[in-house]
Amino acid sequence: MKAILLAGGMGSRLYPVTFGVSKQLLPVYDKPMIYYPLSVLLMANIKEILLISTKEDINSYKRLLNNGTQFGISIEYKIQNHPNGLAEAFILGEEFIGKDPVCLILGDNIFYGLDFTEKLEIVVKRTLSEGRGTIFSYPVSDPKRYGVIEYDDDGNALSIEEKPDDPKSNKVVVGLYFYPNSVIEIAKKISPSKRGELEITSINEYFLKGKKLDVEPLNQEFIWLDTGTLQSLIDAGQFIETIEKRKGIKVACLEELAFQKGYINKKQLIQSASKMEGTSYGNYLKNKYCK
Ligand code: TTP
Repeated sequence: MKAILLAGGMGSRLYPVTFGVSKQLLPVYDKPMIYYPLSVLLMANIKEILLISTKEDINSYKRLLNNGTQFGISIEYKIQNHPNGLAEAFILGEEFIGKDPVCLILGDNIFYGLDFTEKLEIVVKRTLSEGRGTIFSYPVSDPKRYGVIEYDDDGNALSIEEKPDDPKSNKVVVGLYFYPNSVIEIAKKISPSKRGELEITSINEYFLKGKKLDVEPLNQEFIWLDTGTLQSLIDAGQFIETIEKRKGIKVACLEELAFQKGYINKKQLIQSASKMEGTSYGNYLKNKYCK
């Protein structure tokens, strides 16, 4: 299983903040936003990752994440010349994906909740063995901003509408998707929407119509945040601060996750921690693992 981490786009809802810096590099409390979706890929045991961003920003990501060896994973990079839509990721990533199934995760999405690792492992296994796609649904108060799922009386997904004026439910599709390899050919077939983008919703509709899509619910206790607006960015930072201080943990601490998974050894962990000495992130690693 490969993964594409999508970190392009305009970030126009955050102007002027994002005139000079990529949105997914902005801090969410104590670490760059991109750490959060990257931690999800580590949790899912996906070690081969393609990061897609803009021509202007790709080098900043390379500076931040290198080739991934500090986390015991492999990160490659690809430029998206224009924000042509999420589904373009599979066309840009064709060579990288090869013959494998693929996960797509958006660089501005944050996931936090109990049993998420187990859920991810089940979905990865199912994608590998059954050749079906999986998306996740989440109840929100403002569904109009997202891809909205319509259900029948038995709770089966019937359709998905991108940013509808009149949403058919409050359940929306979050920025984490798993597909069999056929997604590449499907991405090549779909046409741009009215707003000129290759929509991920078109891909999901395709799989849904072919009865090859599972919609996994993430319940209300689960936390899914997207950080595209100033308020949601502030809220996300405050949420992470509260959780980390209250529980004495770090959310999306990539070195810790990599160490727990056995991707890096203690020496590598200590090396990373020593580069960040004096910061709350560095001190957390030092106090927990360098005794
Ligand atoms: P969006 O939030 O839809 O767009 P955006 O990030 O450009 O923000 P804005 O609407 O404020 O201009 O994008 C969701 C995620 O997908 C985000 O991480 C950026 C990324 N993205 C790409 O990498 N390429 C694209 O073509 C698009 C549309 C989004």
